Amino acid sequence: MNIKSANELRSLFLRFFEEKGHARIPSASVIPENDPTVLFTTAGMHPLVPYLMGEKHPMGTRLTDVQKCIRTGDIDEVGDPSHLTFFEMLGNWSLGDYFKEQMIPWSWEFLTSPDWLGLDPDKLAFTVFEGDADCPRDEEAANLWRAQGVKDDHLFYLPKKHNWWGPAGITGPCGPDTEMFIIRDQPPCGPDCSPACSCGRYLEIWNDVFMQYEKQKDGTFIPLKQKNVDTGMGLERTYCVLMGANTVYETEIFAGIIGKIEELSGRKYGESEEATKAIRIISDHMRTATFIIGDDRGVTPSNVDQGYVLRRLIRRAVRHGMKLGMPAGFTCEIAKVIIDQYKDVYPELERNGAHILEQLKLEEERFQRTLKKGMAEFEKVYTNMARKKDAFTALKANKADPDAVAAALKQLPPSPDNKPIIEQVKDGTISDETIDALLATCAKMDGRSAFKLYDTYGFPIEITEEMAAEKGIEVDVDGFNERFKKHQENSHAGAEQRFKGGLQDHSEQTTKLHTATHLLHAALRKVLGPEVAQKGSNITPERLRFDFSFGRKMTDEEKKEVERLVNEYIQAKAPITCEEMTVAEAKAQGAIGLFESKYGERVKVYTMGEFSKEICGGPHAGNTGDLVSFKIKKEEASSAGVRRIKATIGE
Ligand code: ALA
Repeated sequence: MNIKSANELRSLFLRFFEEKGHARIPSASVIPENDPTVLFTTAGMHPLVPYLMGEKHPMGTRLTDVQKCIRTGDIDEVGDPSHLTFFEMLGNWSLGDYFKEQMIPWSWEFLTSPDWLGLDPDKLAFTVFEGDADCPRDEEAANLWRAQGVKDDHLFYLPKKHNWWGPAGITGPCGPDTEMFIIRDQPPCGPDCSPACSCGRYLEIWNDVFMQYEKQKDGTFIPLKQKNVDTGMGLERTYCVLMGANTVYETEIFAGIIGKIEELSGRKYGESEEATKAIRIISDHMRTATFIIGDDRGVTPSNVDQGYVLRRLIRRAVRHGMKLGMPAGFTCEIAKVIIDQYKDVYPELERNGAHILEQLKLEEERFQRTLKKGMAEFEKVYTNMARKKDAFTALKANKADPDAVAAALKQLPPSPDNKPIIEQVKDGTISDETIDALLATCAKMDGRSAFKLYDTYGFPIEITEEMAAEKGIEVDVDGFNERFKKHQENSHAGAEQRFKGGLQDHSEQTTKLHTATHLLHAALRKVLGPEVAQKGSNITPERLRFDFSFGRKMTDEEKKEVERLVNEYIQAKAPITCEEMTVAEAKAQGAIGLFESKYGERVKVYTMGEFSKEICGGPHAGNTGDLVSFKIKKEEASSAGVRRIKATIGE
């Protein structure tokens, strides 16, 4: 094995594909652009979907990159040996260029050649798609592996569940894949042991997806315009496997971060299960939070969408930090280590460093102010539940014994809720069923208490659930949500739903709303001044949401004027054109947008009549007239110095 650090693995991979004629593109943002269906970029392919569908990429048909990815679906699992909410995905793409016949020999070369990873072929295993009604068995891939010298007992055919990629249940590009595994020195778990089982003998290191289908809304698959390759190698995981480490946290990737936590807390990773878990949670969550805030399209903590996930990550880290006895301000100290570790690969972290530290400091302080009181409130609620449980258990066991009944009743916390129960006990009418129902309530914290923890003490419901689980009880989340919905126009449950979604549906409406965003941006700059810059964008089929830098509330006149201007641009029925050029040329032409090396040297610039010229990946409507009309629905504060507009079109 030829690498000694994750940095080496990252650069080796990129160099390999650069030598094979791939253009290296920078990581796209972790906040998807103009995509209503996901909160975060979850795989390297995500920002490239339009190009997998046939749009021309400015950097050509062979690309390689390392993409910042965030997957928070398993956030509650973090703390175990393997789950991470942030990871780097190494990838290479053929956009209608080469296919299996080229990719499989390259994968073999990268894994086994002494010039590259130099892995022992006997320690590698491969899976290919076994075929079904949608797509035939991938004999072609299997034969290509055989041609490299792979023996049949190292080759496995598996069903869609294992060898198909394209997030399940949604529309978009997808296809069969072939996955590569390291075989560990551990005997097979049985005669059927294969990479499909989780016994730990086979550990995945790389996935080559042959994207040749588009999944339709009705669940059927149609061939894509072009055949693509999308490969993904999770850097942390693969490095861990290659190093033979037990967990990702025990590789040098986390050494600096964990070292800092140990130094600040005086505790040691491995000293106890509890400390290890807390240290892993803090390490993972702080890394993710640093990358979310430090992104050029970064968000700040809030109660909706990505901001809510960010808040959850920081607050959970702060709670576990408190458990370990970390000093106030620890989140910033850890973030400094993270920024330093990653600044060469992700320069935005250093560029946005002051902002990262400021936001972490603010959020930590906000939560520290109420955390202790909230924990005390939680303890109070829990103690009452435990007392009730003891009392009801004693009642059930000793119904016939008046002294025992009297003793049990004394244990009940004084509460008006308990009055009718005490009466029923006293007059002997209480049934076992009633007592069982009462006992069940002692195993589940009520929604009202959970909501109080949220509303008064800033405890995200997931933190309350985690604290409850530590005590062996549950939380009435439905009851919480009922109260929550009444208080919030935009519940985070909606956000979670969207997060679970997946790839974007490039519906016409979404595309038009995206175009409206550019017109709005242009109009805002005209009315409020050129210091207005885009800070975020989120589009659902119903509306656009645009965040921009501006220090105060807009006046009614300003809003009217912006609305009037956008409608004027629409009425002008201006054609929309797209040109590829270098960043320097785009700047020279006065294009606005994120200049920070997105898509490398060459970028797309969309021009809409005389009024808007913006660097953007598209797609857009063909003519501003397609939008029909434009209406601002809301203008409000988003975070310090950032305003938010929600608007609709075509009404
Ligand atoms: N898109 C593929 C994955 O994420 C490569 O595994």
